[in-house]
Amino acid sequence: MPDAATVFVRVPAKINLALHVGPRRRDGYHDLATVFHAVSLYDDLSAGPADTVEVEVVGSTEAVPLGRDNLAVRAAQLLARHSGVTRGAHLRITKRIPVAGGMAGGSADAAAALVACDALWRTGLSRDELRDLAAELGSDVPFALLGGTALGTGRGEQLTPALARGEYHWVLACSSEGLSTPAVFAECDRLRDGRVVPETRVRASMMQAVRTGDPEALGACLVNDLQAAAVSLRPGLQRTLEVGRAEGAHGGLVSGSGPTVVFLVSDAEAALDLSVALSASGTTSRVERVTGPVPGARLVEPIAHRPAGRG
Ligand code: C5P
Repeated sequence: MPDAATVFVRVPAKINLALHVGPRRRDGYHDLATVFHAVSLYDDLSAGPADTVEVEVVGSTEAVPLGRDNLAVRAAQLLARHSGVTRGAHLRITKRIPVAGGMAGGSADAAAALVACDALWRTGLSRDELRDLAAELGSDVPFALLGGTALGTGRGEQLTPALARGEYHWVLACSSEGLSTPAVFAECDRLRDGRVVPETRVRASMMQAVRTGDPEALGACLVNDLQAAAVSLRPGLQRTLEVGRAEGAHGGLVSGSGPTVVFLVSDAEAALDLSVALSASGTTSRVERVTGPVPGARLVEPIAHRPAGRG
């Protein structure tokens, strides 16, 4: 039984509806113009009293670093330092977001740890202060706090919530083996081979599609500058993309730095049909049906009282 003081947080995965990547900057990062979209595939994190910050991972735990390399541990330690807290926290992460899958799973756990430890330690920090700590931890962490649909600029950490209407149905084709984000950015630079990169800007047609909530219009606008790099490093993704197209998805693309491939469909029935076809194709190791947008990291009731999985 968790301690009565234990707090529970649920945090979503993200996909990028648009991802425009600028040239490599002097600090090694790339300027981005992106549209983040939070979807209903969640990690759960609880934080209970402890003397030091420690982490335990349940679910698909392979390749999740433990100890100081874990982004949730780093988030808790950063928050403790920043707010002068000398206590620790026992973090327990139930992992469902693919590890190194291009869906910001590690960033989601960091955002969840900030929200959970903030509540456990009653630090009294404002949402803005938490957001600044999130940006220090990684480019995708602020969005995992915010959720919904949002325009991201800078490294991806500068956010403007988007006017978005409706609920979208997505089918995710996950890979058993992840891709390293720095390796995919480096491959993108290599493929560009010194060519001048056009200005990174999200197109008006994308923002218009998000505003109208029309899956067909949005499907036609999906774009990811990292897709060619992810496919170059993992050529099998091309077949997955072709299966989705052949099955009539409104659009399909690699999520972020991949290797997860996401498809946009009309409704829950079309999502079920496509997930069956993808599973049968043998091109993917796990298929998930999700909806978006959903809220960012938030405190929830104890997990034991809620059904497992999505929602
Ligand atoms: O910010 P984060 O630690 O999540 O980024 C991981 C890596 O992804 C960076 O070290 C960098 O190689 C690459 N990256 C980038 N440009 C960005 C975001 C990430 O090159 N805007």
